Amino acid sequence: MADEREAMTKRPVLPYGHQSIDDDDVQALVDALRGEWITQGPAVRRFEEGLAEATGAKHAVAVSSGTAALHLACLAAGVRTGDVGMTSTITFVASANAVRYAQGRPVLVDINPETGLLSNADLEAKVADLSREGKKPKVIIPVDFAGGVANLPKVRQVADGVGAVVIEDAAHALGATYEVDRETFRAASCAHTHMAILSFHPVKHITTGEGGAITTNDDALYQELVDLRAHGMVRDAARLERPDEGPWHAEQRTLGYNYRLTDFQSALGASQLAKLPRFVERRREIAALYDAAFSRAPLSGQVTPLKVRAGVASSYHLYVIRVTGATDEAASSRRLRLYLALRDAQIYAQVHYFPVHRQPDFVRAGHGGGEFRGADAYYAGCLSLPMFPAMTDFDVARVVDVVGTTLAS
Ligand SMILES: Cc1ncc(COP(=O)(O)O)c(C=O)c1O
Repeated sequence: MADEREAMTKRPVLPYGHQSIDDDDVQALVDALRGEWITQGPAVRRFEEGLAEATGAKHAVAVSSGTAALHLACLAAGVRTGDVGMTSTITFVASANAVRYAQGRPVLVDINPETGLLSNADLEAKVADLSREGKKPKVIIPVDFAGGVANLPKVRQVADGVGAVVIEDAAHALGATYEVDRETFRAASCAHTHMAILSFHPVKHITTGEGGAITTNDDALYQELVDLRAHGMVRDAARLERPDEGPWHAEQRTLGYNYRLTDFQSALGASQLAKLPRFVERRREIAALYDAAFSRAPLSGQVTPLKVRAGVASSYHLYVIRVTGATDEAASSRRLRLYLALRDAQIYAQVHYFPVHRQPDFVRAGHGGGEFRGADAYYAGCLSLPMFPAMTDFDVARVVDVVGTTLAS
C-alpha cells in the first residue's frame, strides 16, 4: 500500500506540451547576457538567418511574439479600418485578433473536421458572399493546425482571384512539409504565400520564452516589416525625408511598434533551432506510437486521430484525437469523462480550440455567429494528448492506458 502510494506520487505530471531546454541552450543565453549586446545586436540577425535557412524563405524578421508577427503581417499586407481578413474559426484567437488590431473585420471560415484545416468550400462560399456585398478580403490567413499544413496552393488560387494577400499561420508547423505536384515544400517557406508567421512560445517546436517571426520572399514586405517592428523609424540616408538634419538623424516614416526580440532570446532561439530536426523526429515517433495504439482494438472506433492531409508530413505541434459519439453531445460527454480520468492520472490534456465564432468577445463585437458545422462537430470531441520531445515511450503508454480504461471498458 505504502509502495503503491509512493509510486502514485512519483508519477510525473504530463502536460500537453512542454519546452526542451538543455545546458547548451542555457549557456547560449548566458553568453549573450554577458556579451556587449542584450538587444538590437548581432544575435537577432543570426537567429533570423537560421530561420530563413530552416524554412527556405528569403527573409525572416524576428519579433516579440507570434501575435506581434500576425499584427505586423496584417499591417504590411495593408489591412486598414473596415478591411476584411479571413481565417479559420478553429485556431488560437490571435489569428483573428490580428485583423482586429489593424481595425479590420475578421470573417471566420469553417474547417474540415477530419483534418482541422480551413474548409476550401466554405472559404470559396464566403469569398463569393463578400463579392455579392461588393467586398473583397484584404488578407486570408490559413492556419497550419496541429502541425499539418493547410492547402496553401488552393488558398493562394482563391486569394489571387480577389487580389488578397495570403499570410500562412505556421505557428504550429515549423519543420512540417507538404507536396505539390510531387515537389516537397517547407511550411513557412512562402513558396505559395506572401508571408508566414511562427511562434516560439514554450509549447511550440522551439522556444525563446515569448517570441515569433515573419518569413517572406518579398523584399518590399520585408523592409516594411523591419520598419514596423521598431517604431517605423528609418536611419538609412537614402530613405530619409529630411536627410540634411545631421548624421545622427533618424525619423519616423510610419506608425510602428516596439515588437523587438532581445539578443538573449535570439541566442536561445538559435541554439534551439539547431535541434529542430531531432525535436520533429521525436514528435513524429510519438505520433506513430499513438496512431498504432488507436488503430487497433479496443481503441479503434472509440477515438479517431486527427487526419494528416495527403502529401503533408506533420511536425505534430499537437496530437489531437476526436472522441467518437453517436451525437455531438455524446462525443462531448465522453470527452469530458476522458479529460477528467486523464487529469486524475496527472495527465493534463487540453482542448484546441473553443471555436473563435463562439468566443464571447467576438460575438459581442459582431464577428461571431453563423453556421460552422465542421468546427462544431470537431469541437464536440477533440482533445490534445501530451506531445513533446522529452516524452518517453512509457509516458505514451501511460496516456494510452488511461484512454483505454476510460473509453473501451
Ligand atoms: C495558431 C496560432 N497562431 C498564433 C499564435 C500566437 O503566438 P504567440 O503565443 O507567440 O503570440 C498561437 C499561439 O499559441 C497559435 O497557436
